[in-house]
Amino acid sequence: MIYLDNAATSWPKPPEVLKAMTDVLELAGGNPGRSGHRLSIAAAREVYNAREDIASFFNVADPLRLIFTSNATHAINVALRGLLKPGDHVVTSSIEHNAVMRPLRSLEKQGVHLSIVPCAADGSLDVRDVVRVMNSRTRLVAITHASNVMGTILPIAEVASVAHKAGALLLVDSAQTAGTIPIDMPAMGIDFLAFTGHKELQGPPGIGGLAIGDNVDISEIEPVMRGGTGSHSESEEQPDDLPDKFESGTLNLVGIAGLHAGIQWVKDRGIDTIRAHLKELTLALINGLSELPEIKVYGPLDTNSTVAVISFSVHHKRVSEVGLKLDEEYGILCRVGLHCAPAAHKTMGSFPEGTVRLAPGVFTTMDDISTTIRAIEQVIHS
Ligand code: ALA
Repeated sequence: MIYLDNAATSWPKPPEVLKAMTDVLELAGGNPGRSGHRLSIAAAREVYNAREDIASFFNVADPLRLIFTSNATHAINVALRGLLKPGDHVVTSSIEHNAVMRPLRSLEKQGVHLSIVPCAADGSLDVRDVVRVMNSRTRLVAITHASNVMGTILPIAEVASVAHKAGALLLVDSAQTAGTIPIDMPAMGIDFLAFTGHKELQGPPGIGGLAIGDNVDISEIEPVMRGGTGSHSESEEQPDDLPDKFESGTLNLVGIAGLHAGIQWVKDRGIDTIRAHLKELTLALINGLSELPEIKVYGPLDTNSTVAVISFSVHHKRVSEVGLKLDEEYGILCRVGLHCAPAAHKTMGSFPEGTVRLAPGVFTTMDDISTTIRAIEQVIHS
């Protein structure tokens, strides 16, 4: 089997991640921050250590500004729904995943004004187009770091500077970049960073987070969920302290331990080594696919402008048929269709059919890529 669906979730996971998950249940399986006994304290210690290490991975100085969520979508909702009020203006791009688009469309119905900046067909964004739509009511720019459909990397630091000049904040969806591109929140000017654990951070599904920058006034963010936190138990009101304000209910201890081990694994391997490996695989895929005249490859064709996410379509063949044959006849696993990002497909001209998406990961080899190109060649001629 060749697994090329790492943009949906990375697989396999490093053995250290699996071990950390079983170890924490066995050795520290109490409820963190609730009871005062040794298993609860051991669990709380693991959560605190993970919070510290994950915050430092993104260069967040205060670990309490790192909120655990169940995934990137949850983190994006905490930021968007917590910050934006009727009358506010928010800006996004035309290549966003529905994780950003759907909450924004819903907020639009509640009186938030939305501008969608059109990207070019290869997903690239001209920052001058962002400047053009900013106004005095702009509260937030919410954009992806890289497209989950064509891999295009957006110019985060430039957008941050434009947003800040206009007095707005910047939310970045890093689902496709965290773990493969270094992210330094203050240096890049990111005010909210939504991340997921189960992609290139090598953790399990069900864990993610929102890192909140120092510039953000926490009192202006309403929690989207309220409940027990293990703190201020005498009160029936949600506490204002971090991280409790945004972390009601029992935390996903197993997910946190797995994500913690995944990030440690990424650091040990080296994010630059990972990026270099993925660039090499991406280049081989782009070159191999570009030699097949029946195929159209979308997105930027240079590996400095993209992450390891390659979309293509085949003249005269449905993408669903290509995906099915690759799986059933060649054991090659990928994702076809619209990838929960209709706006991105409209931008690149592949809506409503969608594309075949290949997403190599850290464990993919050059042999896997050669085998995949040969298989695609056979499928399109079958
Ligand atoms: N967002 C994930 C993807 O692009 C699930 O496939």
